[in-house]
Amino acid sequence: MNKKFATLLLALFVGLVFVSVGVLTAADVPNEIMIQNEGYKKDKKGPVKFSHKKHHEEYKLACTDCHHHYEGGKNVWKEGDPVKKCSSCHNPKKKEGKVMKLQNAYHRNCKNCHKALGKAGKKTGPFKKCNQCHQKKS
Ligand code: HEC
Ligand code: HEC
Ligand code: HEC
Ligand code: HEC
Repeated sequence: MNKKFATLLLALFVGLVFVSVGVLTAADVPNEIMIQNEGYKKDKKGPVKFSHKKHHEEYKLACTDCHHHYEGGKNVWKEGDPVKKCSSCHNPKKKEGKVMKLQNAYHRNCKNCHKALGKAGKKTGPFKKCNQCHQKKS
């Protein structure tokens, strides 16, 4: 294969990847996120570094394992829709109706998945040791 042809193929491939994810570009899916919300009654724990891209690409999780927008009890969020911060619906101070408070939303999402995978004997992330997620408070 000559070099020009290889470059063309690569360009085509990159193009396809962008087309297949629709309106999203690579820059829309953050690589690493420092989760550090304000407004908790007490801010006891340090921030949490979250390997967002790895969770999707390497651990092969679906966006909808974590992102949702419920309508009539059904998650209607789909890839390409805007992503709101968890804190825009989950209040850091209190539970509102059946919408759990922010700390519990994160813990339930992150830790429950890790725990379930651990139970199934699969490779997983932390769920017991706080400091494997929470950094030291500065
Ligand atoms: C799988 C990762 C993970 C583990 C393990 C974990 N947490 Fe968290 N926790 C989070 C995330 C993410 C947040 C949201 C942080 C934020 O919004 O600043 C959070 C928030 C909190 C908060 C509320 C925010 C604050 O700073 O006060 C507390 C308290 C907390 N965790 C305590 C604990 C304790 C205690 C443990 C161990 C028993 C623990 N967490 C283990 C991920 C984790
Ligand atoms: C394992 C859980 C998980 C998966 C899988 C996941 N995300 Fe996220 N994503 C998060 C968390 C947590 C945040 C931070 C939101 C917050 O703390 O408010 C986030 C943030 C984002 C943001 C940034 C929002 C902002 O405020 O800047 C975008 C965009 C996003 N995700 C898109 C995606 C897309 C698209 C996919 C699938 C290709 C995906 N995510 C898969 C958990 C996940
Ligand atoms: C647009 C508002 C909205 C956003 C943004 C949102 N949530 Fe939720 N979430 C809800 C509502 C409403 C429920 C209750 C659904 C029910 O019980 O019918 C819920 C339920 C949950 C649940 C329990 C049920 C389930 O789906 O597992 C968890 C865990 C959760 N949210 C975590 C998160 C996390 C983590 C984020 C950010 C990545 C987030 N939520 C962002 C509105 C939201
Ligand atoms: C639906 C399942 C699922 C959810 C939800 C999830 N994780 Fe994970 N997580 C995994 C898997 C799978 C691995 C690693 C498996 C491996 O090592 O191959 C992992 C690994 C990790 C690790 C260690 C390796 C690394 O990439 O840093 C951390 C820390 C972590 N997760 C934090 C979080 C936090 C914080 C959240 C919530 C915002 C979260 N995870 C939500 C499945 C999940």
